[in-house]
Amino acid sequence: MLKTQPNPLVITGAASGIGADTWRRLSSAGHELVGVDRTPVEDFAGQFIVGDLSTAEGIAAVVEQLPEQLDGLVNIAGVPGTAPVETVLAVNVFAVRDLTSACLPRITDGGCVVNLSSSVADGWLDHATAVRQLAFCSRGDLQQARELVEDAAYLWSKRAVRLLTEHFAAQLVGRRVRVTSVSPGPVQTPILDDFRRDHGQDKVNGAGELLGRFGSPEDISAVVEFLVSEQGCWVNGTDIRVDGGLAAWRNEQAARVAEEQA
Ligand SMILES: NC(=O)c1ccc[n+]([C@@H]2O[C@H](COP(=O)([O-])OP(=O)(O)OC[C@H]3O[C@@H](n4cnc5c(N)ncnc54)[C@H](O)[C@@H]3O)[C@@H](O)[C@H]2O)c1
Repeated sequence: MLKTQPNPLVITGAASGIGADTWRRLSSAGHELVGVDRTPVEDFAGQFIVGDLSTAEGIAAVVEQLPEQLDGLVNIAGVPGTAPVETVLAVNVFAVRDLTSACLPRITDGGCVVNLSSSVADGWLDHATAVRQLAFCSRGDLQQARELVEDAAYLWSKRAVRLLTEHFAAQLVGRRVRVTSVSPGPVQTPILDDFRRDHGQDKVNGAGELLGRFGSPEDISAVVEFLVSEQGCWVNGTDIRVDGGLAAWRNEQAARVAEEQA
């Protein structure tokens, strides 16, 4: 649906990496923008809200400053698994859930929500019941969430993002607001060093060697641009993996090993 009057798109995590490249790309494409991050951005192209998405109070303070009408929300802010479990769950899961819920009444028909998941979340449906419990866990019941994620909070947080994407898309079917996610493999941003500490140097560097390079923020922001555009209007309730083929290669390797062992 073509809009006569564009409203802003909200982009979280706009100060660094994928979020920073996304606002530059969307601004060049003519979108009105509101940026959100805990770190200020001096040259942001639009309204910028400095806010902490790790608490309910921080999210409420951000929402209070948002325009009454929005074209959409791009949930990019995220922290790696090297952060404390509570922070990983608060930013990567509860902020996506609660900011989306708070923004949806402001998103006009034809609008969309795009979430950043990760290729590590592939196969999340095999754990759907536990992922649902985590995604809808109350902030006051962190003990239950801690037990679910054990020592893999980042992996579970990105699984929860896939579930939340489907959940909101299903709720909104017929309201013409789409909800999708993008799942990058390793991307050259400041978070990559944390991934090396979390997943091991060899695994992360080996992926870069296999592919010839790491993903770039531009590889990811191009897909986000498509998803928020008219061209993406029939893509809904689904995830797009953007990993240069890494997961396909790993799946094939695993199948070969299984065949050899059979
Ligand atoms: N880079 C990768 O390899 C990769 C791979 C898969 C998924 N992702 C996901 O992509 C998203 C963007 O990652 P990136 O690589 O650009 O990382 P990044 O560290 O460069 O950017 C993350 C941004 O989130 C912001 N942020 C973190 N906590 C916040 C909080 N409490 N309140 C407000 N803002 C907060 C940071 O300030 C930062 O600007 C994340 O959700 C990440 O999990 C990244």
